[in-house]
Amino acid sequence: MKEFDPLLMASRDVSSILLAGIAPRPIALVSTIDKEGNPNLSPFSFYNAFGVNPTTLIFSPSRRGRDNTVKHTYENIKEVPEVVIHAVTYDMVQQTSLSSTEYEKWVNEFKKSGFTAIPSVAVKPFRVKESPLHFECKVRDVIETGKQGGSANLVICEILKIHINEKFLDGNNKLQTEKLDLVGRMGEDVYVRASGDALFHVPKPLLTHGIGVDALPDTVRLSKVLSGNDLGILGNIEKIPDFDRIRSLQNNKELGIKYADRFVVHQKAKELISIGHIEEALELLFAFG
Ligand SMILES: Cc1cc2nc3c(=O)[nH]c(=O)nc-3n(C[C@H](O)[C@H](O)[C@H](O)COP(=O)(O)O)c2cc1C
Repeated sequence: MKEFDPLLMASRDVSSILLAGIAPRPIALVSTIDKEGNPNLSPFSFYNAFGVNPTTLIFSPSRRGRDNTVKHTYENIKEVPEVVIHAVTYDMVQQTSLSSTEYEKWVNEFKKSGFTAIPSVAVKPFRVKESPLHFECKVRDVIETGKQGGSANLVICEILKIHINEKFLDGNNKLQTEKLDLVGRMGEDVYVRASGDALFHVPKPLLTHGIGVDALPDTVRLSKVLSGNDLGILGNIEKIPDFDRIRSLQNNKELGIKYADRFVVHQKAKELISIGHIEEALELLFAFG
């Protein structure tokens, strides 16, 4: 692997590695207001949730690399420490991008981007009607990581109110992530759409206590057919197949002939894994793999 030393590199080159490699990033469309009541709207992908007690959302309107100035969002927060953070869906992505234009401070980016401003309940900044998920927040703290261009300003927010479009709630008021059609930011001008084939499921290992990849026979762990994902799925099974079951498979002459070649066994196991027959795959591997 090629080695890079961030301390010896231009900030923009470090930035381009971070943006390309720490991706996809969720996008916060952030509404703020200055003390005169002028609204501001800008997207930030240095953003995530970090806790629920208290609720903690953090995003960073960073110092500009080119001239070390700060963003209007940051200035507004210093004047009025309140924000509304909105989820960005595929339908909103072009207008969201437009709202990132570096307009003069007095320009209303709600109007420029064509989003509809609606009042909030607990804070002064407006909400974006078009987003299906709004977090009205008070700003608990702003941590400045430096004073040079490219330094982060971590805006630590606590949620006061959450608004969710009912269309995306199930009967138990659970937000249905698969229906949201969220977008994420990658490097350069690349975005990702979280829907369709981009979505897949990985059963939570927290619910079970998997045997682990190290419990698999060496020939399986070092297989040329099974991938790392296949091994991860097998290692998430809760128990090693029953000894009697393995013996009975091994004593079956027909199976013994069919699976005399380990390559064939691993291919069959891979096929079984791909259709969700994980325990069957594991038994086969323990018997003949
Ligand atoms: C999808 C997207 C994500 C962005 N993420 C960030 C970010 O995390 N931090 C940042 O400082 N700028 C980010 N930007 C650029 C800001 O949105 C841009 O500088 C904006 O003009 C700032 O507006 P303001 O000065 O009104 O606060 C992003 C732009 C886009 C389109």
